[in-house]
Amino acid sequence: MTPDPQQGDPDTTYTIADDEETAAREYERLRVLARWKDPGTIDALRAVGISEGWRCLEVGAGAGTISAWMAQTVGATGSVLSTDVDLRFHGDPVGNTEVREHDITSDPLPDASFDLVHARAVLQHIAEREAVLDGLLAVLRPGGWLVVEEADMRSFEAQPLPEPLSSLHAAMCMAAAHQEYRDPNFGTRVLGLLRERGMADLEATGHTETMRGGEDSAEWWFLAVEHVRDRLVDAGVISAADFDAALAQARAPGFVMLGPLSIQVRGRKQ
Ligand SMILES: C[S@@+](CC[C@H](N)C(=O)[O-])C[C@H]1O[C@@H](n2cnc3c(N)ncnc32)[C@H](O)[C@@H]1O
Repeated sequence: MTPDPQQGDPDTTYTIADDEETAAREYERLRVLARWKDPGTIDALRAVGISEGWRCLEVGAGAGTISAWMAQTVGATGSVLSTDVDLRFHGDPVGNTEVREHDITSDPLPDASFDLVHARAVLQHIAEREAVLDGLLAVLRPGGWLVVEEADMRSFEAQPLPEPLSSLHAAMCMAAAHQEYRDPNFGTRVLGLLRERGMADLEATGHTETMRGGEDSAEWWFLAVEHVRDRLVDAGVISAADFDAALAQARAPGFVMLGPLSIQVRGRKQ
């Protein structure tokens, strides 16, 4: 969903650099993302009937706020396994939660046992996304639910914006699309992939929202944009003055723009 400007090695994998400033920005960005996205995710998890006693897997948990909500919902008789390749930004475990450092492309998961597996804005960042999807289906119990939320960035990219924000936006969207490991439009493919894999009760919903200047709805993106300022300016993509003017436009109170389309897909293992 994001341009991943914090990448340590931007061409190959999703990796957040170690320096303090980058880590602090990512901590803030993941929390902003969670505040903005969690209400819609919670609705989707309620729609599949999450309840006491369920065993849940949250993949690429980020700040861990959805894992915390799951743990409160499933109670002491349920459990949550909350995983991420990078746990620096994960909150403390809540209730019956195990937080595990885990690379979903290579580390093993328990045998088929989960009632619910959820991933939000994760698979688009992983080159092996189809194999990962197979792995997630394998750890669901028969009758268990998979809920995946991924973006389709095309309408976001195509929207008209005032200059110089328009040029900065085009450069950021192009950079995101050219990261080899990334598919910024993976949201459009998930339903078909689950259909091909024989999932039942498939349902997909798309949702976009207004991004508002200086608010969480926009800052999850512009915190990331801000971080690549020097890289873009040094590469001659945009002048420093235009970059700063563009960010000021985007962050002006009252400014609105179209957010990316987020596609939620759910299906049940037969
Ligand atoms: C855009 S963030 C989304 C975080 C969270 N799911 C959310 O929506 O708030 C992508 C997350 O996927 C994690 N991630 C990326 N590659 C991963 C991998 N191979 N295995 C596990 N987690 C991964 C990142 O560390 C990061 O926390």
